Amino acid sequence: MTKDEMKKAVALAALDYVTVGAIVGVGTGSTANFFIDALAGIKHKIEGTVASSIATAERLKGHGIPVFDLNAVNDIAVYVDGADESNRYLHLIKGGGGALTREKIAAAASRKFVCIADESKLVDVLGKFPLPIEVIPMARSYVARELVKLGGKPVLRDGYTTDNGNLIIDAHNLTIMEPAKLEAQLNNIPGIVTNGLFALRPADVLLLGHEGGVRTLTGR
Ligand code: A5P
Repeated sequence: MTKDEMKKAVALAALDYVTVGAIVGVGTGSTANFFIDALAGIKHKIEGTVASSIATAERLKGHGIPVFDLNAVNDIAVYVDGADESNRYLHLIKGGGGALTREKIAAAASRKFVCIADESKLVDVLGKFPLPIEVIPMARSYVARELVKLGGKPVLRDGYTTDNGNLIIDAHNLTIMEPAKLEAQLNNIPGIVTNGLFALRPADVLLLGHEGGVRTLTGR
């Protein structure tokens, strides 16, 4: 199977977690795009979706799938999204596509988080993928200095602005042994809007595409 075939297989497998009449949270990225395309096939069975980015909202609407503002819904039954890295506890690094803030909000507001990825995303220790951090523009230099203190090498994502009008710093060189602890530490730095660690609210299920099909991992 090619990487794209693996992404498509996990996207299809994620449909099993979509219940009739549900509002579905939808992530961002190439794997999430395969899920959106698969979701189009059962759109008449769901009430609608909440999107984690402008790009995702556009793709959903392109398929004629209703997109609701999060403030207009009471309950997201399931959130489906990709990841840049996952460890075996389903702690994730996300935000390679820059949508981490809305992704983290949507994941937090959902009863179940189903992560879909090809097998290259599963790692023993998080951090080889640079950790994306969304920052308020005026705090850029301050946050970069704080990241250096934590052992990271901050690199500003050049020419990039998030859907929320902020910047992204990618923190390289981190070996993340305690993801939840680092996530909380980063949450406490003024100027950081969101960091790309999803460990305090990890995925509940990881559907991993591999040569032989789809493997299901659960973290708890
Ligand atoms: C978007 O901001 C990211 O969190 C993506 O979910 C993540 O980068 C995975 O993207 P791919 O499915 O394209 O690898």
